[in-house]
Amino acid sequence: MKVVKKIAKWKSIREKIYADKKSLGFVPTMGAIHKGHLALIKRSLKENDVTVVSIFINPTQFNNKDDLDKYPKDIESDIKAIGKYEVDYLLLPGYKEIYPDNYKYKVIETDFSKTLCGKYREGHFDGVLTVVLKLLNLVKPDKAYFGKKDYQQLKLIKGMTEAFFMNIKIVAVPTVRSKDGLALSSRNARFSKKDLKKASEFPRLLNQKLPLDDIKFLLEEIGFEVEYIEEIDNRRYGAVYLNGVRLIDNVKI
Ligand code: PAJ
Repeated sequence: MKVVKKIAKWKSIREKIYADKKSLGFVPTMGAIHKGHLALIKRSLKENDVTVVSIFINPTQFNNKDDLDKYPKDIESDIKAIGKYEVDYLLLPGYKEIYPDNYKYKVIETDFSKTLCGKYREGHFDGVLTVVLKLLNLVKPDKAYFGKKDYQQLKLIKGMTEAFFMNIKIVAVPTVRSKDGLALSSRNARFSKKDLKKASEFPRLLNQKLPLDDIKFLLEEIGFEVEYIEEIDNRRYGAVYLNGVRLIDNVKI
């Protein structure tokens, strides 16, 4: 696996991949690699000649500085985890490479991004869509892989590629969960052992055939702070806090 930090270098590699007529799969991440990310990577490896993974902790999508500061960062162990697979390139750009404009230009979706997580995390999806547009324009993949774990994000990215006529297939990958049902997430590393166990009550209750208010009540009773539980287009979405750690999940209904 080749680690590429500079965009100029990446551009020349991309030219060669075109010249060789190879298909390219892309998996953007913010690092703290776990089995959820690895499912995306494995899918790309299966479906493309060349696979590119990026790690860029995108500051513009963090509406809370504390969350950004506490976001797990361990590049060495990420490189080790990804290096076990036949990933061809790992892109590791710095802020100035990605934001030469210092975020003066952004992509804003005005409807779905203002609901669910977007209602509570101001500007979050502007940051996500902007960085994903930049990354897709740089990497120029045939296919890009995103997890259903972040279903609102997935839908918004798919919508953006359609709205801007981008010739990229967005592939949705099912959520990878621990044995007790908790969706794997980089933020899970912040839980104590006891809270990690309690956290799995969130997907368990989200899956219950109960009115939304009952689910909220049951979650609050066992110590979760509920941000929202809502249903949109046959999908139930939820966001909760457990001892300051934010969890999101969604299920088809
Ligand atoms: P990050 O949270 O690192 O996630 C990278 C990708 O992995 C996303 O597409 C996410 O949905 C997927 N993913 C995370 N946990 C998963 C799980 N348990 N099962 C399946 N897929 C999972 O999402 C982001 O980064 C950023 O917003 C990004 C798109 C990279 C833009 O900065």
